[in-house]
Amino acid sequence: QRGSEAPLRELTSAGFSFPRVRARRLRLHPGVRSLVAETRLDPSMFILPLFVEDGLKTPKPLRGLPGHFKYPPESRELVELVSRALYLGVRSFLVFGTPSMKSFEGAEAWSPRGPVQRAIKFVRAELGWRPVIMADVCLCGYTDHGHCGYPRETPRGVLIENDKSIEAYGKISVSLAEAGADFVAPSGMMDGQVAAIRSALDNAGYTEVGIMSYSAKYASGFYGPFRDVMDSAPRFGDRRSYQMDPRNRFEAVKEVLLDAAEGADIVMVKPALSYLDVISEVKRSVPWLPLAAYNVSGEYLMLKAAAEKGLVDYETVMLEILTSIARAGADAVITYHALEAAEALKSGKTPF
Ligand code: PBG
Repeated sequence: QRGSEAPLRELTSAGFSFPRVRARRLRLHPGVRSLVAETRLDPSMFILPLFVEDGLKTPKPLRGLPGHFKYPPESRELVELVSRALYLGVRSFLVFGTPSMKSFEGAEAWSPRGPVQRAIKFVRAELGWRPVIMADVCLCGYTDHGHCGYPRETPRGVLIENDKSIEAYGKISVSLAEAGADFVAPSGMMDGQVAAIRSALDNAGYTEVGIMSYSAKYASGFYGPFRDVMDSAPRFGDRRSYQMDPRNRFEAVKEVLLDAAEGADIVMVKPALSYLDVISEVKRSVPWLPLAAYNVSGEYLMLKAAAEKGLVDYETVMLEILTSIARAGADAVITYHALEAAEALKSGKTPF
């Protein structure tokens, strides 16, 4: 980065100027452009979210995520989707589940018969260890109040309890590890969640199971379609006492460092598109820490809606968005575009 700060005057007097220098030479053909491209997308950097629901008989289309479905946990169709992704070079998956019954505690989240646990076991039995299976660790999809932790009446109003919630995250993580998850991905934004999960996994003997932490997860309006899918919108209040304030950039570095100290293997910034500065800040601050970015449901739906109007080219904008996220510094991208993007890359139909 230092070199770019050399004063322009020095460069110019050394001959770095028009007409000797013509920047357009490096943009002449697609081949030349690819040769000097600073960012390259590869399907193996994509993580495809998967949704499973207890009690479903057949895959159910999701109105908030066009092209995506909720699957019965032990279904052919789910295995076929994963196989197709693997064929296209997408190797990692992030599983979300909906139980048949929600409760205050959300105990289905750590049941060995929970939807995610059963789905992971089933896919593992069918496809072995080829897919990298990650599982979301949270309570909001499993609790009747829809919060990521346990609410409690206090003189200050209803607060979301921290330390009880991370205890539950530990139990959820162990049950997901038992089912065969490679990584658990805590998304509740409770303090100390990574440390609690690391201890729980280690005590249960799962030292090889990794943690991808939603370290800098913002209180965002872009999660709307996802909450519709999961029926996980909070029944009262909002998530602003635990998710980050969109006005903060440097606080993300603090969250990431805390998670790294607690034992996170991969950290995450979420959402991605309105938070490219945060991705860049985190990557520059801690370059050695693998960084994922979550290209969330609202971002996906915005592009689908725009394309439906016929006024933007879907594939061009999709690859431009994914490239921007990678260019900002993300090593991996969780995206609902994973398969479409992998297909576009395979067919060579890129806009670059
Ligand atoms: C659960 C969770 C959320 C998302 C992933 N895990 C939603 C939320 O915090 O309300 C959002 C994903 C998306 O919008 O694509 N804590």
